[in-house]
Amino acid sequence: MSARKRVAILISGRGSNMAALIEAATEPDFPAEIALVVSNRPDAKGLEFATARGIATAIVDHRAFASREAFEAALQAKLAEARIDIVCLAGFLRMFTASFVEPWRGRMLNIHPSLLPEFKGLDTHARALAANAKIHGCTVHFVVPELDSGPIVLQARVPVVEGDDADSLAERVLAAEHRIYPAALKLVAEGKVKGI
Ligand code: GRF
Repeated sequence: MSARKRVAILISGRGSNMAALIEAATEPDFPAEIALVVSNRPDAKGLEFATARGIATAIVDHRAFASREAFEAALQAKLAEARIDIVCLAGFLRMFTASFVEPWRGRMLNIHPSLLPEFKGLDTHARALAANAKIHGCTVHFVVPELDSGPIVLQARVPVVEGDDADSLAERVLAAEHRIYPAALKLVAEGKVKGI
């Protein structure tokens, strides 16, 4: 097998998708290793899990920088230092400039809790319920400068059931997220799916 791709996961909070990727990458034949977890928030819960698994972590706190460009330069320096091949956004709550995203085109993934192109942006579960959707779901896609718009790698469809509220629907979708994100990373790391 060719060398495993070096992956950085960017988080801002709970990190359950990060944990799913870390678990998947412990399989000996998984084509990627999680080399770094970066959070823009020092209090992100996910950092504890990553540290407990012996994974290098870094905090790049956006509040410490005078501009978005300065923040992104610090983030890029961390990724370069760790010789990262692929970046996975997993509940990372900062928007990027096009200059940051472009060099990562085809090598940066995001997970979004809807069946894109439906429900880009926030509050996807409440919006799906308000729209009376019968099928909802999640999407792993390549990141491009336009929000939630890059080429799709994998999607999972999740039924909306009688009596669902945003929390119960979110929980069902999250279980699907944890299945498709590792599967999508595997496809990309093996070069079987290309974003450009
Ligand atoms: C997930 O629902 C993901 O789709 C969205 O933000 C949430 C992050 O959850 N982008 P977690 O931090 O991975 O637990």
